[in-house]
Amino acid sequence: MILDGKTCSERRLEILREEIDESGLNPTLATVIVGANPASQMYVRMKQRTCEKVHIESVGIELPANTKTDQVLVTVHQLNNDSDIDGVLVQLPLPKTIDTGIVIRSVRSDKDVDGFHPYNLGLLFSGKPVFVPCTPKGIMTLFGEYEIDVAGKNAVVLGRSLEVGRPMAALLTNADATVTICHSKTSNLSEETLRADILVSAIGKPQFITANMVKPGAVIVDVGINQLNGKLVGDVDFEAVKEIASAITPVPGGVGPMTIATLMENTFLAAKLRSCSTVW
Ligand code: GUN
Repeated sequence: MILDGKTCSERRLEILREEIDESGLNPTLATVIVGANPASQMYVRMKQRTCEKVHIESVGIELPANTKTDQVLVTVHQLNNDSDIDGVLVQLPLPKTIDTGIVIRSVRSDKDVDGFHPYNLGLLFSGKPVFVPCTPKGIMTLFGEYEIDVAGKNAVVLGRSLEVGRPMAALLTNADATVTICHSKTSNLSEETLRADILVSAIGKPQFITANMVKPGAVIVDVGINQLNGKLVGDVDFEAVKEIASAITPVPGGVGPMTIATLMENTFLAAKLRSCSTVW
């Protein structure tokens, strides 16, 4: 079974647009991009285009590559204090000269549609999440749409990033999976991956996961977006692995569209929560 994130995300976006129209709210997402990283520019454009589709307003702020941390903080504080803005997203990675941790912590937690602020990650790890990082939340949504139950399963997450690996492990734990996080220092990776009923790879190595690393019947989720010989490929050797997996996400058209749809859902959530101030 191919886990079709593109179709699933389109269906969810249609429902979301109707909910937004009916809500009478005017959800607004601010994106901040520092420098001219072509991949980041492309992702932000895709996010803004999707905003248009679902009737979310977007405000794009572009800062030059030589912007200092303090200047990024001033921009974020302005957006934090702007009552017209519901969600604030600072596109990562930031230039090396900027302290990414301080910038992430500067985003108001009730506008943190990326879910990267330690407050929101803390809620997620305590099992009571509000804003959840978009990629792992989108993957859980995809599991839900295809009725893939993770409870009691061995889930192996490759990669321990703040954006994907760690929150993915927390969500799977909250959903009663038995979770292992693997990373570059894991001593016998194949031994771990071969035990996985659910394997989520977010390591950024083209076609690194080969068929002999996968348990027959496993569910494979490929978060990787890599260039190989001018072609976009995931972390998984899709053609070979799809023959033994029970379900697998393609690249492109798997996780990526679910990430963007989830960002839209998080932005609407931010607008709804801010509109009823008793929640906060
Ligand atoms: N860079 C790659 N993925 C993401 C994401 O989900 N959010 C932000 N802000 N930056 C990213």
